[in-house]
Amino acid sequence: MLRVVVLTSGGDSPGMNAAVRAIAKMGAARGVRVFGALEGYEGLIDGRFRELTRTLSDGSTSVDPEVEAAGGQGGTLIGSARSARFREAEGRALALRQLVSLDATGLVVIGGNGSLGGAHRFATETGFKVMGVPGSIDNDIGCTATSLGVDTALNTIVEACDRISDTARAHRRAFVVEVMGRDCGYLAMASAVAMAADAVLIRESGKTEAQLVGDVAQVIRTGFARGKRRVLIIKAEGVAVPCTRLVRLTEEALLPELPSLELRATVLGHVVRGGNPSYLDRAVAGRLGFAALGGLLAGATDEMVAWLPPVQGGRVTDDSSVQRFPLARVLEETQSLIDGSSPLAQRRLKLMSQAAGVLSL
Ligand code: F6P
Repeated sequence: MLRVVVLTSGGDSPGMNAAVRAIAKMGAARGVRVFGALEGYEGLIDGRFRELTRTLSDGSTSVDPEVEAAGGQGGTLIGSARSARFREAEGRALALRQLVSLDATGLVVIGGNGSLGGAHRFATETGFKVMGVPGSIDNDIGCTATSLGVDTALNTIVEACDRISDTARAHRRAFVVEVMGRDCGYLAMASAVAMAADAVLIRESGKTEAQLVGDVAQVIRTGFARGKRRVLIIKAEGVAVPCTRLVRLTEEALLPELPSLELRATVLGHVVRGGNPSYLDRAVAGRLGFAALGGLLAGATDEMVAWLPPVQGGRVTDDSSVQRFPLARVLEETQSLIDGSSPLAQRRLKLMSQAAGVLSL
């Protein structure tokens, strides 16, 4: 019976469990035993595996009930970690040894850009069959329209901002809300549009501290002058100026004209990363999970399954919204998304600057 290992790596994201469940179910349906490596590459290096499928007394295969139940839950049942050891050749050699002694023939890596970089290195270095699944709330992974957790994270941010808006309007206050996303401003931009926020601050705009303070002061000034009771500024984590400093500098700048200004800061932090996956994240996870194992079983390697509305370009799978791309290309596009050279990153920036004067009305 074939054996395949799956792991979740880096920052967990809602939908990882749903992808693991889909892989285990697909494995059971195809007579493949699926094992989870516990805590990502760390468990792979140490040989800590947990079988996610079950062989029943009649010889048929099913799924561990705990894996099935976890599919609708946030976090990751098999654990995750950022592995420093896997970045070293020695760690990767140990991981290969563990896979060989388990008699596994394929590995599915669910994670963000660091984890997918590790998967690519491992595949090219060892020749072991590896398939990536994009899992990160940051939405900074190339070749895919979304990654697992993005939709849930956005829903969480919108819900939190609705709550903040209630209390802000009650007191006629301004709020700076910081959202996760590491170096990528996607969560901030997308939630700012959904919330009709007065301003969005992202690293990609390249603004100085003084310009950011100027922007915040301006939307507060005009917002309250227009009779607003809530002024909402969404700040991406990637903006180097801490929220508390931004608030203090803005208050100082506005003191002469708005001495009674009430400006507060809320850092949503890891709240954004937790929670049960939304419908969309579960659906995408299920379909990417099936395609990942299907791809491995068909002999593909060193690729990532991506969620894309049907367009030309990638190798088409049986699912019209799922395509597979070489990991090398994914990593290249990821880099250009982060350094801002990608046309998609530039389009997002242009759209946000066009929306700036509109959202604050
Ligand atoms: O990559 C996902 C992410 O949640 C980022 O948005 C954030 O910058 C980072 O992970 C936080 O990592 P940690 O949980 O290790 O502090």
